Amino acid sequence: VLNKSFDNTFRNGYIKANDVVLSASKFGQRIQDMEIRDDDIWVCSFPKTGTTWCQEMTWCIANDVDLEGAKQSLAERFPFFEHTPQVDYEKVLQEKPNLKLPLYVSDSITFINELKSPRFIKTHLPYKLLPKKLRDQSTKAKIVYVARNPKDTCLSYYHHCCLLDGYNGTFNDFCKLFTSDSLLFSPFFDHILGYWERRNDSQVLFLKYEDMKQDLRTVIRRTAQFISKDLTDDQVLVLEDHLSFKSMKNNRAVNFEPVIEFYKTINYLVDTQGSFIRSGIVGEGKQKMSPEFIKVFDEWEEKCLSKSELKF
Ligand code: A3P
Repeated sequence: VLNKSFDNTFRNGYIKANDVVLSASKFGQRIQDMEIRDDDIWVCSFPKTGTTWCQEMTWCIANDVDLEGAKQSLAERFPFFEHTPQVDYEKVLQEKPNLKLPLYVSDSITFINELKSPRFIKTHLPYKLLPKKLRDQSTKAKIVYVARNPKDTCLSYYHHCCLLDGYNGTFNDFCKLFTSDSLLFSPFFDHILGYWERRNDSQVLFLKYEDMKQDLRTVIRRTAQFISKDLTDDQVLVLEDHLSFKSMKNNRAVNFEPVIEFYKTINYLVDTQGSFIRSGIVGEGKQKMSPEFIKVFDEWEEKCLSKSELKF
């Protein structure tokens, strides 16, 4: 358990498995042995790199821009593979039976195994911890990976942890946790490089948050091509609008508001003013960071990426 070194700023204990920081999870071998289907589509990412954005894009492309169908909660359409509930919902319900719960999945793997095809699955696991049959590409299942520059990822992760994970330390201390690879699903650069090395596999598409910000239309087209979908120009325009920051921020199917509202009712939130779809800006991390940490991040990035062609 790692959180002893975290100054009690986090609620949950973490474990380290195969050098990766994970939340104490009951899954282990079940993840490795998971059956993969040919038409599965996985969105994989390090937390806070634009996962939700990329999931909504991928789902809408695969479903012919079915915006009616997209009104169903993304958590149901595109469940989180290694989801470990933070709250004991059953206990909460015993105490407050009239509470309206957001989607509650106590065992995400069973939930996913029982889904009809095609399945859409989100995971933050690094490539080396994916189910064996997904890694060895013995099926035609597809992986869309999204990466984001470390400083913005760190700032977004900080706000996320204040909002949903009980972090009450400073941003500076959070930068320390981030750059020492102490946070959930770290090490950060290993995560990115694990998928980057696979970027030329026919079953892997490697995307960047910054490219989605700069030219979403091109990313939509690349993704459509990757999953063999033909979208009309009109569909691309409609989807681009649906995926805009403003539209996503106001869309309860993707903006996590039902979960946040539920947490508010049980007094679980530390940051009671925050939102999940928060600011969506490239370069904000650097603006908010101390000059010392900008240097730490730059040197860390240089050290970890100098041998690869990946740049942010
Ligand atoms: P910020 O906290 O920097 O605003 P994830 O889904 O991996 O948790 O990533 C969340 C980040 O993606 C948040 O970043 C969120 O605002 C951003 N995001 C979500 N939808 C977006 C959109 N349509 N356009 C730009 N950024 C978006």
